[in-house]
Amino acid sequence: MKILVTGGAGFIGSNFIIYMMNKYPDYQIVNLDKLTYAGNLDNLKEVEKNPKYKFVHGDICDRDTVTKAMRGCDTVVHFAAESHVDRSITGPAVFVETNIVGTEILLEVARDLNIKRFHHVSTDEVFGTLSLTNLGEKFTETTPYSPRSPYSASKAGSDHLVRAFIETYNFPATISNCTNNYGPFHFPEKIIPLFITNALKNKSLPIYGKGKAVRDYLYVTDHCAAIDLILHKGKVGETYCIGGDSERNGEEIADTILDLLGKPSTLKTFVEDRKGHDMRYAMDHSKITAELGWKPTVTFEEGMKKTIEWYKANESWWQKIISKK
Ligand SMILES: NC(=O)c1ccc[n+]([C@@H]2O[C@H](COP(=O)([O-])OP(=O)(O)OC[C@H]3O[C@@H](n4cnc5c(N)ncnc54)[C@H](O)[C@@H]3O)[C@@H](O)[C@H]2O)c1
Repeated sequence: MKILVTGGAGFIGSNFIIYMMNKYPDYQIVNLDKLTYAGNLDNLKEVEKNPKYKFVHGDICDRDTVTKAMRGCDTVVHFAAESHVDRSITGPAVFVETNIVGTEILLEVARDLNIKRFHHVSTDEVFGTLSLTNLGEKFTETTPYSPRSPYSASKAGSDHLVRAFIETYNFPATISNCTNNYGPFHFPEKIIPLFITNALKNKSLPIYGKGKAVRDYLYVTDHCAAIDLILHKGKVGETYCIGGDSERNGEEIADTILDLLGKPSTLKTFVEDRKGHDMRYAMDHSKITAELGWKPTVTFEEGMKKTIEWYKANESWWQKIISKK
């Protein structure tokens, strides 16, 4: 297999490249990444000298660059995106450009080059919000789309384009919608790495609103394993929902991190809530479990311990990012 990974210098993309190169030493991987503020080649030191790995610095919105990078590949795994909801609230335009226009360009080039499989990585956020009172309710593959932030609207637009290509051109794509990932190489603007790095520096942990908004946390290597299964056993045209079975609210995340690091709860600070904050996401992953045999293997407690250990052992990685901010 020769895979074009887009956004492979980001958090999930870099974990995915490392996961795949360790598991399939014969596979070739081309990583196309623009290296925005979120892209970091330090994530890929483990594979950068591997002759089966190639990095291409470029924008998914540039058709010529995409064509050159994709030519010769049989598979595309598309991670590249603007991914931070808060940034989408203050500046939505680049989210439309990268997440919608960029995806459309990738789809057109993939169709021209007869790519055998295109996998599109999306989010649970396209489904909108669940309530905090009906805790049995979860998103599924048939939940209607109801995006509520510029980020989720742009991801919904990209999902619709992939679905339109499947229906209109019989294009061989699959889609996955997953919950909040966490683990190594997570950019310290997202809640878990932000809280860990702040706690390590004895800085306050800014919790939105009353800290009641719930997310379903998925350890990043479990997500990589799910994409691997979809590529090898998933059915073309299908969508798969991937969840971590680990619902936690913002205050619980802060408490877990402070507890594991032995830091005082006085570091918790409640700040003005995010605009239009979705109150709860949770995913029913029974389809991918029944059809492909996937389920999350890392519990929230294990995943948080591993993640905290990683940030403690890799301070130079995050200090370099923080010093640029
Ligand atoms: N992180 C999560 O919890 C989560 C949850 C659900 C879905 N997703 C989706 O997974 C994918 C990866 O998320 P992530 O957290 O790794 O994101 P990230 O922000 O860490 O990484 C995004 C990567 O894409 C690159 N990129 C951005 N614009 C580009 C462009 N125009 N051309 C080429 N490369 C570009 C960046 O340089 C970066 O390396 C995204 O599509 C995101 O929507 C993420």
